[in-house]
Amino acid sequence: MARFGPAGPLRGSLRPPADKSISHRAALIGAMAEGPTVVEDYLNSADTRSTLAAVTALGARVEGFSDDRIERRISIDGVGLRGARPAEIDVGNAGTLLRLLPGWLAGQEGGAWCLDGDDSIRRRPVDRIADPLRRMGASLSCREERLPPLRIEGSPLSGIEYELPVASAQVKSCLLLAGLLAEGETRVVEPAPSRDHSERMLAAAGAEVGREGDVVTIRPATALEPGEITVPGDFSAAAFFIVAATIVPGSDLVLTGVGLNPTRTGLLEILDRMGASVEVEDADLGAEPGGTLRVGAAELRGTEVGGAEVPLAIDELPLVALAACFAEGETTIREAEELRRKESDRIATVSEALSGLGADVEATADGLVVRGGGGLRGGTVSSHGDHRIAMMGAVAGLSSREGVEVEGMDAAAISYPGFEADLAALAGGARTG
Ligand code: S3P
Repeated sequence: MARFGPAGPLRGSLRPPADKSISHRAALIGAMAEGPTVVEDYLNSADTRSTLAAVTALGARVEGFSDDRIERRISIDGVGLRGARPAEIDVGNAGTLLRLLPGWLAGQEGGAWCLDGDDSIRRRPVDRIADPLRRMGASLSCREERLPPLRIEGSPLSGIEYELPVASAQVKSCLLLAGLLAEGETRVVEPAPSRDHSERMLAAAGAEVGREGDVVTIRPATALEPGEITVPGDFSAAAFFIVAATIVPGSDLVLTGVGLNPTRTGLLEILDRMGASVEVEDADLGAEPGGTLRVGAAELRGTEVGGAEVPLAIDELPLVALAACFAEGETTIREAEELRRKESDRIATVSEALSGLGADVEATADGLVVRGGGGLRGGTVSSHGDHRIAMMGAVAGLSSREGVEVEGMDAAAISYPGFEADLAALAGGARTG
């Protein structure tokens, strides 16, 4: 159990850890290439270690990665588009690995693979990728038609046009990887834009990937050449500090090297409407946009979040709910049913956590309603093994009147092993037990 007491202002400067989504993609696309891909600033977290272990099991050679260490620069010697060895893959807690990797494997004839993971992964649906992959010709089976373990037998694929039922970067990316090994063009129709890291990285590796309005297209490839990939800081990790500095009075925080891809930064628009004080200074971080953020504490007002904004802020919506506890008036998050299918059912776990701390919050079928202004008393939050709920609980503690105990704080290591130390440094020793 970790305790986070009420804190003084957050002050100072921090470079958040490397981006989790981009790190997963760098490992996978590096493994799909022939020859070495250098990745600078690969994220050292439980999830992204699972991806390096997976590509190693598939036959890629990773230099600079061992059981207890990831160097600042790693090199991945890939197996080529069709060279993955048959293997049993443990994806751990990593939903992105679970959804993206089958896209690459499905088209490799003669191979057989099985993907499985922890208890949380066993509740994450895979029918969202299995259905469209089968339409392309893939041979897959899973538990109860929708849950891991997921078995894949490589078979010839053909390009299709697929309309995503919900905006999902994981499903889109899976189909784009499959499209590299399929015959003809693959077209993925997005109901709303979702993160486009795969498109950017595949284009940089020489793939014929394009966009026609709301359709992302890809053509088969014979080889990928990613060259060197630099991973920017994770906006979703920075988000905990953005919200902490916004709600803890007197805070003034600088966050450097943050990835600012516009398909990720919906939180900034939402906070802007709520009255937050975030200054953005753009910087060149390579293939992805990035920059420096300066965040000061602010008085907030409630807002409405829904529609196309949801996928642009999907992992930050728990933090929007937390900020809303400190905002005058009501905040409504709707059309966010996808939150129920994350590492935990985040509509349930966020409303349980915040109401347990004294907030006026209501879970709806597709979101949350928070009647703010009263701040948070404090109490206990269970992470339910979900890294983002654990870290939200810690931030809630700093801004609460009596402090917060987080049960299962170790879940933070899934994406951000140094979170507690970084928070304590900025908040002047916020953890008190
Ligand atoms: C991710 C996409 C999102 C996000 C997840 C990471 C990715 O999931 O919630 O944390 O790296 O592609 P969906 O695309 O399924 O919404």
